[in-house]
Amino acid sequence: MPAKADLYRTAARMLGTIDKSGWVLRYRYGDRRLLEDVVLPALNRDPGVETLLLVGCAWYTRHYPQLLPRKRVTTMEIDPAKAAFGGDSHIVANMTDITERLPPESLDGVICNGVLGWGLDEPDAVEAAFAGAVVCLKPGGLFLLGWNDIPPRNHCPPESISALGRLEAANIPGLEIHSLVALERNQHCYQAYRKPEKG
Ligand SMILES: C[S@@+](CC[C@H](N)C(=O)[O-])C[C@H]1O[C@@H](n2cnc3c(N)ncnc32)[C@H](O)[C@@H]1O
Repeated sequence: MPAKADLYRTAARMLGTIDKSGWVLRYRYGDRRLLEDVVLPALNRDPGVETLLLVGCAWYTRHYPQLLPRKRVTTMEIDPAKAAFGGDSHIVANMTDITERLPPESLDGVICNGVLGWGLDEPDAVEAAFAGAVVCLKPGGLFLLGWNDIPPRNHCPPESISALGRLEAANIPGLEIHSLVALERNQHCYQAYRKPEKG
């Protein structure tokens, strides 16, 4: 583990140096472009959004907090070694334990991209993680799900997840649509939900 953590830290440092030169190394696929060039900037412009949680960190997401400079961004990742790719505010945790780490109704948005089917796999764990996210969202808060509708990643499709039934369908930030396939090759889908307002 320390070897992996060292490797990630070194990679994050090198990438950070390159980033500062203005040349941000990132994936150029359409699904990433949509997230980075449309969805996250739309959230950054939204005056109703203050606090965001980004779940799952990788070398290619290290700059996501910087795409949201007006917001208070926290990252969460189960793998301690990947903290190197997290934001300044970072939580090492399983998303299933989200309510132990964040207060109820404290978040305006949860971005959960590439976690369902990528480690968050078992139905009970998925329910615990998403139900916890619902608890931590403020009324009206956004839950943006990114997932791959292709085996073996689609073992728990969204329509089978009861916790999502407590949310309303919403538009993906920056778009006038609730869900879409952002990349055909791996059936990477985005779909957006909102926690109902009280009353
Ligand atoms: C495919 S990467 C996706 C990273 C990123 N969210 C993105 O936009 O692509 C999946 C990441 O989610 C993390 N992960 C998987 N299950 C998790 C869980 N239950 N709680 C927190 N992180 C988890 C993995 O360790 C991995 O780093």
